[in-house]
Amino acid sequence: MDSITQFLGRFHILILHLPIGILMLVAISMLLIKIQRTKFANHLKPTLPFLLFSGTISAVFASVLGYLLSLNGGYTESALDLHFWSAIVLSIIAALATFLSYKKKNIFHKFSHVLAVLLLILLTLTGHAGGNLTHGDTYLFEHGPDFVKKAVGMELELAPPKSLDEAQFYGHIIKPILRTSCVSCHSKSKREGDLDMSTYASLMKGGTKLAIQPNDITTSEIYKRITLPHDNKKFMPTEGKKPLSDEQIKLMAIWINSGAQQETTVTELNLSTEEHILLEKATHFSTHKVLISENIDVTPLTNNGFYVNILPSGYGLDITHYPKVGNKLNKDILESLLPFKNQIVWLKLSRNKIDNRVIPILAEFTELKKLSIDGTEITDITALKNLTNLEFLNIYNTPITNENQLISIKDNNPKLTHIVK
Ligand code: HEC
Repeated sequence: MDSITQFLGRFHILILHLPIGILMLVAISMLLIKIQRTKFANHLKPTLPFLLFSGTISAVFASVLGYLLSLNGGYTESALDLHFWSAIVLSIIAALATFLSYKKKNIFHKFSHVLAVLLLILLTLTGHAGGNLTHGDTYLFEHGPDFVKKAVGMELELAPPKSLDEAQFYGHIIKPILRTSCVSCHSKSKREGDLDMSTYASLMKGGTKLAIQPNDITTSEIYKRITLPHDNKKFMPTEGKKPLSDEQIKLMAIWINSGAQQETTVTELNLSTEEHILLEKATHFSTHKVLISENIDVTPLTNNGFYVNILPSGYGLDITHYPKVGNKLNKDILESLLPFKNQIVWLKLSRNKIDNRVIPILAEFTELKKLSIDGTEITDITALKNLTNLEFLNIYNTPITNENQLISIKDNNPKLTHIVK
């Protein structure tokens, strides 16, 4: 039985075009006859009863198939209700118009314009509600010009920020998290728990409970739900969907605790250094500067025995010198990297025979995020405190024993969170 309803139900999608086409045509004909503007208006008159009859039958037929389709579930009640009831009213008005056109011609012609307008409105409403059910309520306008989106109450997409500081905390950071993890169940048409997280306004409106209480994570239902034990049945997202990462949860907390505003930028929030670092790690646009062009010529480097890897999307150069490959690494060869110092973000010189003489050169690579000098003979790295972008430093198996050196580097550079020693 189930498979029969399922089989028939799907024909709804096919059949529904009949009442739309027929009733649309008949409603327009009725209006043309009423205003008597076209020569052929009178020729249309005798076709009305038959067209209305066919339209009604196809509308009823489409409704029955639609009902069968809805039995298979997968649609949210609230969105379905509007489609269902407008289809029923449409069928009733079409049937009434059919009856009048056959049996009460005078009344029919007197009120045909009213009936026609009603039919057009109901057709539009039913069709639109049905379209939203299958495609989601943003489908129609999502590629529309900004003024159209504004007019229908859609939130405009933000252009990517030029830098992390200019990023809007909600639009660039929080919204993408919600969109990836939550909006599939919490949208205008799905609204689980009566909560729609697709726009700032609907998010702040909340569901059965207040979703976001600005400045207070403990009473913000969203924060409670994402921090529950994962096996709690109230934990969000449900149904085994991927939980938010620790970083994402912390970002939600930062945003809520800072007032949960829509347009505040990262700079305006005066974040602590740790919070800033967290943000850089968790967001893809973070410190992403385009450092190189695609056709950069790195042959001077490869000729000197460096292994060069161009990181994707202009992110920079990843340079390695292997100890026993090519020229022996020394101060002069290392200097050949200097013309590229603004592009080099990762530098790996592990196990090369180099010592403190290279340190003044290394201190010039201020874009460096990762530096590996493990297994070298370097003993003094104090000058590396210039490298304020450094996040990772490997000094394993070097003669560096003086902890003070490390402390002074770390004090100077809060981003340096990974030190291997
Ligand atoms: C797979 C579907 C699904 C996903 C994905 C999902 N939720 Fe839910 N959510 C539900 C359902 C179902 C309910 C209603 C039952 C309940 O309250 O536990 C609900 C209820 C809620 C409520 C309570 C609303 C109220 O006021 O009663 C909050 C808050 C919530 N979800 C937050 C989230 C957040 C945050 C995410 C993303 C991290 C998320 N949900 C992702 C299905 C989902």
